[in-house]
Amino acid sequence: MPKFFKKKENKTADDKAPKARRMRFISRLRGTKDILPDEYKYWNLVIKKAAELSRSYGFRRMDTPVLENLELYERSSGRSSDIVVKEMFSFVDKNGEKIALRPEATPGIVRSYIEHGMFNLPQPVKLFWLGPVFRHDKPQAGRFRQFNQFNLENIGEASPVADAELIAITYYFFRELQLEVIIQINSVGCPSCRKDYLTKLDNFYKERGRRAKLCNDCKKRLMKNPLRLLDCKEKKCQEIAFEAPQIVDSLCEDCRNHFIKVLEYLDELNIPYNLNSTLVRGLDYYNRTVFEIWPVSAEIPAGKPADEPLRQNALGGGGRYDGLVEYMGGRPTPACGFGIGIERVILKIKEKNIPIKDEEKGDLFLAHLGDPARRKIMILFEELRKNGFKVRQAFTKDSLKGQLETANQTGVKYTLILGQKEIMDGTILIRDMESGIQEIVDYKKIVAEIEKRLGSPSKKT
Ligand code: HAM
Repeated sequence: MPKFFKKKENKTADDKAPKARRMRFISRLRGTKDILPDEYKYWNLVIKKAAELSRSYGFRRMDTPVLENLELYERSSGRSSDIVVKEMFSFVDKNGEKIALRPEATPGIVRSYIEHGMFNLPQPVKLFWLGPVFRHDKPQAGRFRQFNQFNLENIGEASPVADAELIAITYYFFRELQLEVIIQINSVGCPSCRKDYLTKLDNFYKERGRRAKLCNDCKKRLMKNPLRLLDCKEKKCQEIAFEAPQIVDSLCEDCRNHFIKVLEYLDELNIPYNLNSTLVRGLDYYNRTVFEIWPVSAEIPAGKPADEPLRQNALGGGGRYDGLVEYMGGRPTPACGFGIGIERVILKIKEKNIPIKDEEKGDLFLAHLGDPARRKIMILFEELRKNGFKVRQAFTKDSLKGQLETANQTGVKYTLILGQKEIMDGTILIRDMESGIQEIVDYKKIVAEIEKRLGSPSKKT
């Protein structure tokens, strides 16, 4: 036999099979994160609190698309803002349209307010928004490229009560999540009183070679948007900004009165705040009240600028934007709002080890021995679930040991066990998972027996 035939005969089936190449693993993008099941209890808690407070204060939920026209953000957030200049995820789509992944919620909400004629509704229109936003930021702890915001927007209300109400809601939100925060607050006035202030600021930065000490970004800001010099994150720029003239000293009478009123309401409600003269916020649309929510550890020592990491890790921020609706093509409409970063809130909850009730925990587990019992408990499961009990199961498992292990993991108080003998006798076992004691009860009276031990689900909170 020719040699090459012989060689072939010796080959095993495995040798003949093409070698399976391990595929290259594709990991998630930098600055993005997976939310795994174990983490969801934090999300549930925070989202529930946001929804509950919003509803109480009359804010109704709405959503906007993730994708919007790029120009929407250029015009509203500001062509010189970091969000637009440095951080926007944008692309040209197949039709040649310039598209952006939303870097914040407010412009989309304002667009929607105009587009859906919400100005025809009774004013103000109070909106609650929650969803992901995208910024091509430098990822680090608490800073992501895709993160989630909880926003409230009050569109159509000029009264300082609206500003105070929003600040109060943010404060209660954090307090009820057991997080200590301090509100940083300032007023950036209106375009007319800001004009005088900008001249003062310009003179200040030109004095005694201050300009030369600024970071490169601030040198550019001096030309384009000098107000932003005040909230530069660089320590050296912060030290200079701290000595700059304060905008509150240049407010016109209306803006001053508005600001005083906001502070008076906050005093009345006992909401702690810090008057922060360098707080101007990084978006172009703000006027009058601006505020941020900082963790209490971030309280600035008197007479000193805040440390860079503290300023960068605000839990939330917002303010008044009375000119934006008109600037985006709507009627002149006063408005104010805030955005809170959910990931940062969750990080704080974790840091503080605040105990959280796991909503996934069950009251009861149903276990079976053998296929006929499995079929019966599948029906019983549905009956108990409909009765409002938090029931757990492992229908696919066969061994009782394996099922009891799962029952232990789910943290239930009782396991109901059904086997061939119990089916014949018309009974079921109730096992107390803590003591291991098992009782035989009448299968027909199972709901009453469970209620005897756990109480009626309708009476539970
Ligand atoms: P913002 O200050 O740009 O305001 O963002 C609000 C919050 O989003 C921040 O305080 C922070 O908690 C969170 N955040 C910002 N960037 C990141 C990031 N890279 N990673 C994780 N969290 C982040 C706005 O977006 C305004 N639209 C808020 C507003 C609503 N003003 C009026 N209405």
